[in-house]
Amino acid sequence: MKRYEELAPLSREHNRALLLARNARRAAGTGDPRRIREAWEALACAFRDEMRAHFATEERLVLTLLTELGEHDLAERLWREHRAMARNIGDPALWTRDRLAVLADVLHEHVRVEERRVFPLVQRHGSPALLAALADHPDAGDAATERRSAD
Ligand SMILES: [Fe+2]
Ligand SMILES: [Fe+2]
Repeated sequence: MKRYEELAPLSREHNRALLLARNARRAAGTGDPRRIREAWEALACAFRDEMRAHFATEERLVLTLLTELGEHDLAERLWREHRAMARNIGDPALWTRDRLAVLADVLHEHVRVEERRVFPLVQRHGSPALLAALADHPDAGDAATERRSAD
């Protein structure tokens, strides 16, 4: 199915999240403490720059629609995964190799479910107002890159 233009900002962030997940999975596989630390730091940076706002947009617009459609289990699952990822990324005391491997898998599957199951539902059932609000989601990519190069 062709992706609506309105979902492009969230989909671009999904592509970056998949790269982060792959990097995290590789770092966990090496067992190298420095690479594991760097992967967690990259996740923390991405969380600050775009994932936090991405989760908020999805919760405000997408999960609300899922609930209206009666997709309670799916909405609950995505909401729970947002909370778990935020908790782990936000607390350096939890930055272990095992948790990194789990987080990489959770993030990867989370994005796949949203792209394959949730976005088609949004395209089919989302109102014009909802789609317009999703199109307004700020694409953090450019701003984040600028901020990092200014650091
Ligand atoms: Fe999500
Ligand atoms: Fe997402």
